[in-house]
Amino acid sequence: MLFTSLSFAGLTARNRVVMPPMASVFPEVPDGEGSKKEGVPSQATIAYYKDRAGRGPGIIIVEHTYVTLRGKAHEGQLGLDNDAAIPAFRELATGIRSQGAVAILQLSHVGAKGNPDVTGGEPLGPTETPPPRSERVPTPMTEEQIEEVQRFFAAAAQRAQQAGFDGVEIHSAHGYLLSQFLSPLTNHRKDKYGGSVENRARFLLETVAAIKSRTGDQYPVFVRLGSTDGIEGGLTYKDAAETAKMLEDAGVAVIDVSGNYASARPAKAEPGYFVPAAAEIKKAVKIPVLVTGGITTGAFAEQILQEGKADLIGVGRAMLRDPDWVTHAKQELNP
Ligand SMILES: Cc1cc2nc3c(=O)[nH]c(=O)nc-3n(C[C@H](O)[C@H](O)[C@H](O)COP(=O)(O)O)c2cc1C
Repeated sequence: MLFTSLSFAGLTARNRVVMPPMASVFPEVPDGEGSKKEGVPSQATIAYYKDRAGRGPGIIIVEHTYVTLRGKAHEGQLGLDNDAAIPAFRELATGIRSQGAVAILQLSHVGAKGNPDVTGGEPLGPTETPPPRSERVPTPMTEEQIEEVQRFFAAAAQRAQQAGFDGVEIHSAHGYLLSQFLSPLTNHRKDKYGGSVENRARFLLETVAAIKSRTGDQYPVFVRLGSTDGIEGGLTYKDAAETAKMLEDAGVAVIDVSGNYASARPAKAEPGYFVPAAAEIKKAVKIPVLVTGGITTGAFAEQILQEGKADLIGVGRAMLRDPDWVTHAKQELNP
C-alpha cells in the first residue's frame, strides 16, 4: 500500500509517504539580494525542498510559517505575513510540484510559547496559565484578538494559494496557539472558547472557516492535530477524535496526527508512538489520516497502512538521516 497513490480533496499523492513539516537547516543562508528579508525563503531553502521532492515522497508539508510576527516562534523561521514574500514562496511551491510531489505549507502561531525578543510583544494565550515547562504568563486573548489571528491565518492561506501551493496545513499541535486553546491544561476560559471540547475547538474551527472564506471551499486545508498532552488532566484521544470529526464536517482535507504537550518526539517512546491515536481518530472520520512519529522502516509503514490505522505515513528524522528513504523503503518492500 505504501507505494499506491491516494486521491483526496482534488489532489493525488503518488504514494503514501509524507515529508512532515521540519524547520529546515538553512533558512538564514545569505544568497543574494532579498534573501535575508525576514521570513522569505532563501535560494538554499528552495533548492533543498526541490531536491527532497525529487527523492520521491508523495506529499511535502513545508515547515511552519508564521502568519504574523507576533506568532513567530524563532529567528530564521519562514513567514508569509505579507504579499512581498509571495514570489519566493511561489518558487518554493513550483520547485516541489515540478518533481511530482504535492506541496502543502504549514501555517502557525506560537501563542503563549512566544519569546518577546522574537515576537516583539507579550505572549498571547487562552488564559493566564503558562504552558507546561514554561514560566511565561501569557496575556489572555480578547475575542477581537482571536478574530484578528483568524484573519492573519486566512490572509496567509490566500497568499499560499496565490503562490501555487496545493494546500495549507494549520498547526494545532506541539503546544502552539491553537492547541493551547484545545488543551484543558492551558484553556480555563469561561466564554465560548473554553469548557467543552466543542468550545475549546472553536478557535480552530473558525480558523478553518476563515481560510475557506478567502481561498474558496475547495482549497485543501490540512490540520496538524495535537492528539494527547501526555499529562494527567490533559487532552485525550477521545477529545482528539471528537475534534477530528468536527474538522471533517468543516471541510478539512486531512487530519495530521501528532502530539500536543506530549511533543512531537516524546522521550523514550516506542516506534509509531501516535499510531494508537491515529487509529482512534480514523474510527471517527472518513477523510485521510496522516500519522508521524518514530516510523523509520518501510515494513512498519506498510504494516500501519495494512492494519487500517492510517492512510498516510510521515517520515521525519529518518528522512533527514537518509534523504533517499523512499527509494530504500521501496527496495525493502520489493526486494
Ligand atoms: C528538525 C525538526 C524540525 C521540526 N519542525 C517542525 C515544524 O516546523 N512543524 C511541525 O509541526 N513539526 C515539526 N517537527 C516535528 C516533525 O514534523 C515530526 O512530527 C517529528 O520529528 C516526529 O516524527 P519522526 O519521528 O518521523 O521524526 C520538527 C522535527 C524536527 C526533527
